[in-house]
Amino acid sequence: MLDKDHQPKVLISREKIKNTVARLAKEIKKDYRGKQPLLIGILKGSFVFMADLIRQLDLPIEIDFVKLSSYGAATKSSGKVKVVQGLKTPIKGRDVLVIEDIVDTGLTTSFLLNYLRRKKPASLKLCALTDKPFRRQVPVTIDYLGFTLPDKFIIGYGLDLNEKFRNLADICFLEDDESS
Ligand code: IMP
Ligand code: MG
Repeated sequence: MLDKDHQPKVLISREKIKNTVARLAKEIKKDYRGKQPLLIGILKGSFVFMADLIRQLDLPIEIDFVKLSSYGAATKSSGKVKVVQGLKTPIKGRDVLVIEDIVDTGLTTSFLLNYLRRKKPASLKLCALTDKPFRRQVPVTIDYLGFTLPDKFIIGYGLDLNEKFRNLADICFLEDDESS
């Protein structure tokens, strides 16, 4: 699975992730008690986080997904985002909670929040597993945040590098192994 020069190193262990997901679920349950929120996951990165999170929410939730693509240079977000796969669920008047794996420049998330806001939900909030605040290009308010990250490209727990590593159970980073 790995090439010998790039060994994943654990940045946030599965135990820490588990505790944090439980903490986020508790905050969400408290705020949405008596409501029927619609959780919208951004594909593909959020699917592992969302699967763990919803199983801790004893609320009458529904889920849907949107797939976005940001095009331009392969490694840098161009700021041009488009909806590749839209919502199947009408959101007018719904309490919508967007589930994101990572907020980096903020371009993807802010595009999506603006797109959803135009559909007139009753409320619209954001839950992000991770945040890289120092990379931000547009402001984004994160209502429920798991971890603030250092300046590293992370993989695992749904997050990819060129579509690989989504299946790692821990949040990892790739360390160049100079000795090999
Ligand atoms: P944005 O820069 O906030 O628009 O983030 C765009 C997308 O880049 C995120 O939804 C992730 O899919 C991806 N991304 C940003 N930083 C990382 C990272 O450290 N690891 C994996 N994917 C990332
Ligand atoms: Mg993503």
